[in-house]
Amino acid sequence: MSYNQDKIDYREFLIWKRLRNISFTIFVGSGKGGVGKSLIATTMGLILTGNSFRVGLLDLDMHGPSSLMILDIKQLPKEEKNGLVPPSINNLKVMSIGFFAKDSPLPLSGMAKREIIKELLAITDFGTLDYLIIDLPPGTGDESLAAINYIKNNRGVILVSTPSRLAQQVVKRAAIFFIDMNVKIIGLIENMVLDNDFGGTYNLARELNVPFLGYIPYDKRVAYISEINPKELTKTTFAEALQNALKKANIIH
Ligand SMILES: Nc1ncnc2c1ncn2[C@@H]1O[C@H](COP(=O)(O)OP(=O)(O)OP(=O)(O)O)[C@@H](O)[C@H]1O
Ligand SMILES: [Mg+2]
Repeated sequence: MSYNQDKIDYREFLIWKRLRNISFTIFVGSGKGGVGKSLIATTMGLILTGNSFRVGLLDLDMHGPSSLMILDIKQLPKEEKNGLVPPSINNLKVMSIGFFAKDSPLPLSGMAKREIIKELLAITDFGTLDYLIIDLPPGTGDESLAAINYIKNNRGVILVSTPSRLAQQVVKRAAIFFIDMNVKIIGLIENMVLDNDFGGTYNLARELNVPFLGYIPYDKRVAYISEINPKELTKTTFAEALQNALKKANIIH
């Protein structure tokens, strides 16, 4: 990390110090909205804590932060000597922009978004983690750029698509963006598959020469997320398929 002599930003040093205690950072992205990124990122967090890993989840969606709702988290982060300690559910430590945004929309410029992400990474005390999962917003805009920029030493990105050709088209563009940014594509997942009616994500993965991690069926139990107890999330067909995808990616065994 380099410093501009005129403008030393202590937060960058703090981020560097905090990231040293995190073994692997994984982004969950897509480019496309509403494909299940947040549900995959949160359930992945719960699956990993269930496998005895120390895990944090960072929700960087400024316009629709959903991890707090998915996990039904009501507690706020605790202000302590070394920063803000995120609340946990099933040992998963969750920090979200939603703690600060509440229900109000956030009309932000790209610069403001970068600042918020820098601030969040600097103030959050996740402690020592095996995995930090980052739930990216749709698009490949400022949030993704800032996150990649501050977390250069990441393990890569899991890209979520659906059977829709429209989704695959957007995911292809996102994949090229991440490759251009030197972020490794851990693999592609095709989510929300109805009645084994598979789409073209497998072929897209082959075209991009990146791993295909598998299909996740459309699962009615997780469709209306506020109706499921977060502790039951890992017991769904959705989670079972995600677990297989994580095995394929060598994240769990
Ligand atoms: N496999 C699935 N089966 C049924 N419903 C699903 C599945 N995956 C996700 N959903 C549902 O689809 C909706 C969108 O999911 P989610 O919020 O995770 O998408 P997202 O990609 O994070 O959206 P955004 O782009 O707005 O951040 C949620 O209501 C979620 O419960
Ligand atoms: Mg989301």
